[in-house]
This record gives sequence, C-alpha cells and structure tokens, in this order.
Amino acid sequence: MNESLPWVEKYRPQKLSEIVGHTEIVKRLKQYAENKNIPNMLFTGSAGIGKTSAAVALAKEIYGDNFQQNFLELNASDERGIDVVRNTIKDFARTLSFDAEFKIIFLDESDALTSDAQQALRRTMEKYTKTARFILSCNYSSKIIEPIQSRCVVSRFKPLTSKELNSRIKEISEKEKINLTEKAFEALNYVSAGDLRKAINVLEAASTLNKKIDENEIYDIASRAKPEEIKKMILTAVKGNFLEAKKMLEELMLEHGMNGEDVITQIYRETVYCDETEINSKTKIELISEIGEYNFRLTQGANERIQLEALLAQFGKYK
Ligand SMILES: Nc1ncnc2c1ncn2[C@@H]1O[C@H](COP(=O)(O)OP(=O)(O)O)[C@@H](O)[C@H]1O
Ligand SMILES: [Mg+2]
Repeated sequence: MNESLPWVEKYRPQKLSEIVGHTEIVKRLKQYAENKNIPNMLFTGSAGIGKTSAAVALAKEIYGDNFQQNFLELNASDERGIDVVRNTIKDFARTLSFDAEFKIIFLDESDALTSDAQQALRRTMEKYTKTARFILSCNYSSKIIEPIQSRCVVSRFKPLTSKELNSRIKEISEKEKINLTEKAFEALNYVSAGDLRKAINVLEAASTLNKKIDENEIYDIASRAKPEEIKKMILTAVKGNFLEAKKMLEELMLEHGMNGEDVITQIYRETVYCDETEINSKTKIELISEIGEYNFRLTQGANERIQLEALLAQFGKYK
C-alpha cells in the first residue's frame, strides 16, 4: 500500500465487503457483482459516506485486473465545462470493451448539471445502452430530471451512524498505531456529523502532531469549539451577562479561528441539546427563532462579529 497517500485514499474500501454501513445497498451491489451485470444507477446522499467508494468497489469486483480500462470516473462540475465531460463520456462509451460486456461511467455531482445538460446526458445514456452503464451520484435526487431518475435504480445512502463511523476510525487508528481517548471518538463524531471522509481527514491531521489524541486536538484541527465552551457562552448570554458572553465569543473566534457560520451552527446545536433545567422549552423556541433570523443575516453577508454579538444580546432578553 502506498504510504504517501492521504488516509482517505489509503483506506478507501477496495471491496464491497469493506464498506461500512449501507447494508441493504451493499447486499444488492454484491448481487450485481456476482451476476456481472448492473443497471444504470443513481446514488444519492450527503458527502463522505461512501457513494464513490461503493461504485469503485463494485467495478473492481466486476472487472478485477481490467478495472482501469473499463471504469471512468468524472465530476459533473468539472471546471473545464460540460462539453469536456460529454466528449470524454462519448469517447469512452462508444468503444466496446475488449474484456467485458459493458463499461461503467461514474459521474459524481450529477446534480451540478443544468437540466439541459441532464437532457443531453439522458440521450447519451440511451445511445450507449449496449456498451455502457452509468452510475450517477448526487446530494439531492430532487435535482435530477425525471427521465434520468426513471432510467436508474435509485439507492439512497444515509449518513453513517456513530457506531459505523467509530468502527472504521478504530480500524484505521489501530493500523496507524495511534491512540484515541473515548472523548476523542465523541469529538470526531461531533465535528464530522456522519461524514466519514471528514472524520478521517481530521484524524490524520491530528495524528501528525501526536500519536495520542484527545478531544482537544480534534476540536483544534476541525476549528471547532468544544460543545461545553459554546454551551457556557449561551447560558451566560441567557443569564443576561452580555459582556462576559461577548468575551467568550471573541476568544472562540480568535483561538479556534472559527468563522461566523461555524459559530452559529454550533450555537444552534448546543441550544437544541440543552435540557429543560438549563433552558426551558418555551425559551428554547424563542432562542431558535432568533438564531434563524441571525443565521439569515449572516448568509446575506452582514458583519459576522456584529451579528453574533447582537444575537448574544438578544439572548439576554429571555432571562
Ligand atoms: N461507508 C464507508 N465505508 C468505508 N469507508 C468510507 C465510507 N464512506 C466514506 N468512507 C471513507 O471516506 C472516503 C470518502 O468516501 P466517498 O466514497 O468518496 O464518499 P462520497 O462519494 O459519498 O462523498 C473514502 O475514501 C473512505 O476512506
Ligand atoms: Mg464522491
């Protein structure tokens, strides 16, 4: 194995059996691999949960050593433009495979295609039905035009559970001989929210500093505050202690280099997680509605610092 590869690649599943989670989907793909035949497929789901890996592993099982010449991976949002994508697909699809019934074209981020481009893609899919199969991957299936959806078997990939994420992280950390505390696992779950690519990247970055990793390293690398820190700031603000909460905010933004969007997302999460004794549910509703308003302002490009401070000031109204 190539030691210089980033871990996300080094530990990319090579076989379907190495894919964590997605039990039903993997079962079906194994069946396809056994039959050496696949339909056109659409993989939908959030980032970093194994869509590309599943397509690659499936193709490797079907083609074995002939994988390279029969599998084409493209990104639909290729900055060189849709024409490059389309021509590459045509060149690849139109020649027959020497050693297999069909070739596989994997098109990542298909929902980045305009509907015109999707129409063209649909025609390409139809034209090469004999010589090629398409696996499209996207975050939102609703952005894929109906005629493509109806030509594909749709597989919905769900975010990985913390159990699934932990099992892969454990495996990798054993192979890399790094030691994670229990809290570090929790922190990885918190910062990655089911995105295994992110979890592995953060783990790799943290491990360059130290072979023994605790939650502090994880939050630092991920530019995230510890959940407790955010919670403390919220509760301080809700108590009406604005100046102290403002100071905490400054520290968070400087120390962790967090941007406004990161901070407000974490404020939201921690507010939701507060229990009844910390913030009663009536207040919680008010706070969340305030957060929604200030989140909107941030997306409109308002000054982050001022808006976040104003949000903390608003919190003081609910003491
Ligand atoms: N379900 C999974 N099982 C094993 N590894 C995974 C899984 N999901 C993600 N990974 C890891 O994260 C990396 C990125 O996953 P990828 O399949 O490219 O995600 P997606 O295509 O859904 O964005 C992989 O190389 C692998 O290391
Ligand atoms: Mg992908």
